[in-house]
Amino acid sequence: MLVTGKELLLDAQKNKYAVGAFNINNMEIVQAIVSAAEELDSPVIIQASQGGLKYAGVEYIAALGKLAGRNSRVPIALHLDHGTDFDQVMQCIRHGFTSVMIDGSRFPLEENIAFTKRVVEIAHAVGVTVEAELGKIGGTEDHITVSEKDATFTDPEEARRFAEETGVDYLAIAVGTAHGVYKGEPKLDYDRISEIREVVDIPLVLHGSSGVPTESLQKAIPLGICKINIDTDIRAAFANAVGDFVRANPDEIDPRKILSPATAAMKEKIMEKMHIFGSVGKAWK
Ligand code: 13P
Repeated sequence: MLVTGKELLLDAQKNKYAVGAFNINNMEIVQAIVSAAEELDSPVIIQASQGGLKYAGVEYIAALGKLAGRNSRVPIALHLDHGTDFDQVMQCIRHGFTSVMIDGSRFPLEENIAFTKRVVEIAHAVGVTVEAELGKIGGTEDHITVSEKDATFTDPEEARRFAEETGVDYLAIAVGTAHGVYKGEPKLDYDRISEIREVVDIPLVLHGSSGVPTESLQKAIPLGICKINIDTDIRAAFANAVGDFVRANPDEIDPRKILSPATAAMKEKIMEKMHIFGSVGKAWK
């Protein structure tokens, strides 16, 4: 069934696990996510980034996501990842997304508050729940890059004010992760997560979670992380499986045969993450 992000994340917050949010671009990724969630009885968020919307178009993404949600026996939220402008958020809401992120992290605090608040008011009026970002998460996702020097950690007091004044439902915080492939091992600022949790009572979101060691994620979840975003690790699973298959079967031209091992590899990776996040068996009936 299709549900809002808030419904999923409040249950995760109450029961101290995290829901995986996996990026989608095509049918095979959606099928891999849904099949993993159903096999493990796990709630899940399928989300489309700026690049995903550009690649497939909002109508295809929305149709795939809504179908996945409607036909599935596990709860699924269809989420816009890093929505950058008001019009795009409205378009996604109109196409049936149940959750949207409005990312005003490039603005100074006052402006981010006003920008986010406007989206929250409208989204809530039509039953859609909202994620926002405070602090600036580094790295590259699709064509959007935040350099190391521009990345800034979330300030707990600003987070308190931001959550209170915007009425946002869940908050992405910058605590040491970055989008894309890591060069070294990412170091999470656990004290900061705890300090934010003490003054902010909504679910917290961790972006840039591919390549973050299992122990680090499992330490962050009980501190308040309820949504964990994964894109890069799924891309790698897809690309490696396609590469292996094509190298081993150079004469094969049937896309179904080429893509089937990739779907299976993505499903495997997603199931591995669901075990790490503790969401296995948490789908309510
Ligand atoms: P990764 O690039 O680490 O998979 O992060 C994805 C993400 O945070 C999407 O918003």
